[in-house]
This record gives sequence, C-alpha cells and structure tokens, in this order.
Amino acid sequence: VNYKERRHAFIQEYVNFKVDLPAGQHGLYEIKRCQMDERSAMFHNALGLVTKTDRFSRPGVYTQLIRWGNNADPYAETVVMSDHLCEVADHEPLVTYAREHAPLERVLINGLGIGVCFELLAPYVQHFTVVELSASVIRLVAPHYQARYPGRIEIIQANALTYRPPKGVRYNAVFHDIWDFISHNNLAEMRHLQRRYGRLCDWQDSWARRYCERDARKRRRHPEQYEKAVDQKELYRALNTLFAITD
Ligand SMILES: C[S@@+](CC[C@H](N)C(=O)[O-])C[C@H]1O[C@@H](n2cnc3c(N)ncnc32)[C@H](O)[C@@H]1O
Repeated sequence: VNYKERRHAFIQEYVNFKVDLPAGQHGLYEIKRCQMDERSAMFHNALGLVTKTDRFSRPGVYTQLIRWGNNADPYAETVVMSDHLCEVADHEPLVTYAREHAPLERVLINGLGIGVCFELLAPYVQHFTVVELSASVIRLVAPHYQARYPGRIEIIQANALTYRPPKGVRYNAVFHDIWDFISHNNLAEMRHLQRRYGRLCDWQDSWARRYCERDARKRRRHPEQYEKAVDQKELYRALNTLFAITD
C-alpha cells in the first residue's frame, strides 16, 4: 500500500479525532477553539486542490495552538498546530510504525504542539519524551496530558536542534515536528535532526517531509514558475475574495 492510500485509510479511521485540551492563554501562545463552517471548509479545500497539497478539512469545531505576533506585526496570528484532519493525518507514518511494532518502550517527540501524538499513540507507546522550546506551550498543554497519562510523559524544555539526549538512551521511534509551515526550507533542519538521531533510534521521520521534498523537487525542476509564482498569501487572498469570506 503506498503512502497516499495509507493516508487516505488513516483519515477515514480518524475522521472524528479531536483533542479535548482546555482553552487558555500564556505568553505569546493561546489554545482556542475555532469553528470551521461549510464555506470556510470549501475555501480551505479549494486551496488544497489548487496547491495540490491534499490538505483537506471538514466543517466542525477544532482546537488550535496560536502564536501571537511577529517582528512586523504584533497582532499577526500564526496557527502552530490544530486538530484539523490534515494535521492529524500527518502523523500517519508514526502511528503506522508504532502499531506495527507495539508496544514501544520509548518514543521521543520534538515539538509538543497540542499533544495530538499522545492521543494517537497512547495505546502503543509506554513512555514519551517531548522536547519543546516554549515554556508557555508547556504550561498550556503538558499538565492536561500528564494528568491523563500519569508517569508516562517527560517534558524537556529545550531547543530540539541543539538538545542532546542523555548518554546511552535509545528510542524506539523519534518524530521531529517543530515547523509552522510546509516548506523546502525545513529540509536542512530535518536532515540535521535525522542525522543526529540516526544511531539513537530504530525509526524516525519528520513532519510532512514528503510534502517538503516535493516542494524542493518542484522548485528544482521549474525554477521559472517560482520566480513569477503567486505566493501562498496572494493565492489565499484571491480565493478569499472568490468565496467572499469577509472575516
Ligand atoms: C506543529 S507543533 C507539534 C505538534 C505535535 N506533534 C502534536 O502532537 O500536537 C510544533 C511545536 O514545536 C515547537 N517548536 C518550534 N521550534 C522548536 C524547537 N527548535 N525546539 C523544540 N520545539 C520547537 C513549537 O513551540 C510547537 O509546540
């Protein structure tokens, strides 16, 4: 079964998957619920079709991790993670590996997010180590899951790119998930992390690696398209006008 078929089957199985993390705000980060209505879902899916990214969603209520502000705009809102179907489905390779090799004794996750990994993997994994950069994300997210899975989750506040695991430790699986967006630009960091953990684990992967590699391939093959390409934000604006979504 190829990757696309596995992803498709996974989406069907987890179509109703949601996290139940309480809403809250700390520092620059916020956990909040958002409603995706029929029209916004159509808009989101049109974007997925136009950009050929297979990133589809359904109407419903979702949980998002938002980071507020950037250098240019303090009110800019970046969705760092959510439990939309496409984001959940990005964990398919990890879940498939864990299922096929269960029970896994130790799994390392780089990037805490909203803890989708815990809920997907808890039946197959005994102990999680999570490396997370932001103290605010840890404060908003960790207590909820540590209460639900007592003694099974260790959180380390550190930069995953420089963190070195204690000597002698080995993981059954490692998943690197520290990026906000899918981009060829993530590949260098993915290679760095995957080199670092190569000998420390039995299996590893990075979030949406296949999409990032496809982005890089396309750029190499058709650089001219990218020179004059509409960037994602412009495309988003154009589709927004088309669907007349005003908020
Ligand atoms: C997309 S989320 C991870 C989603 C997670 N897999 C889940 O199950 O919900 C990315 C997370 O990585 C964190 N992060 C970003 N850069 C990081 C770094 N250099 N080291 C560790 N964590 C980082 C962000 O704060 C965020 O919590």
